[in-house]
Amino acid sequence: MKFEPGLVISIKEFGGNRITFRFPKAGDAPSAMRYINGLVDEEARVLLREKITLVEEKKWLKRTISSILEGKAITLVAVCDGEICGIAGVDRRGVDTADSHVASYHVGVSRGFRRLGVASYASRLVFDLAKKAWKTKVVKSSYVADNIKSARLHRKLGFKVVGRIPKATKYGNRFIDEVICYKEM
Ligand SMILES: CC(C)(COP(=O)(O)OP(=O)(O)OC[C@H]1O[C@@H](n2cnc3c(N)ncnc32)[C@H](O)[C@@H]1OP(=O)(O)O)[C@@H](O)C(=O)NCCC(=O)NCCS
Repeated sequence: MKFEPGLVISIKEFGGNRITFRFPKAGDAPSAMRYINGLVDEEARVLLREKITLVEEKKWLKRTISSILEGKAITLVAVCDGEICGIAGVDRRGVDTADSHVASYHVGVSRGFRRLGVASYASRLVFDLAKKAWKTKVVKSSYVADNIKSARLHRKLGFKVVGRIPKATKYGNRFIDEVICYKEM
């Protein structure tokens, strides 16, 4: 399967919401910006601290679409009524490097669409695509130590914790450990 911008992978209902899981496309920038800024607003445990502009989001989208076409990213947006309500994906360093069978994972779901199974469903779609297209054997991930939701999501998806980096993140005035985990496919 060739991964192209806009390619639909699945459509499924979650709590009465019909959600399309597809690859991102250039026109997604405004909606993707609202999605990520929503996470920043609620001070979710994501790396961004400040809201981003449409110009920055367009650059991110352009880079992401290029990486998808180069075989270095598999990114699915979850879309409900034309708005992005979640993003899940994996990235790898290269297509022919010593670690091209290893992918790094990220996920997020907007408030209002949580606890419906969207993150787990989107993540499993991404892992299946990576396994088939990239022959991915290992998925790496991490989360902020006080992010209980993410810890439970990772456990549910079969990740195993291998350690933690003390004080690797800072939220407000507090340094918090980063938990490192992996999953074998
Ligand atoms: C973490 C996050 C991605 C989960 O998304 P979601 O769509 O709600 O997750 P799912 O509905 O697929 O739930 C999967 C599992 O995660 C865990 N989980 C999700 N929300 C939870 C909550 N509020 N409390 C405890 N566990 C929770 C549960 O184990 C759940 O499985 P279960 O419902 O069978 O018990 C979402 O809360 C989010 O985007 N949070 C803000 C950003 C973030 O933390 N991203 C992860 C960075 S590593």
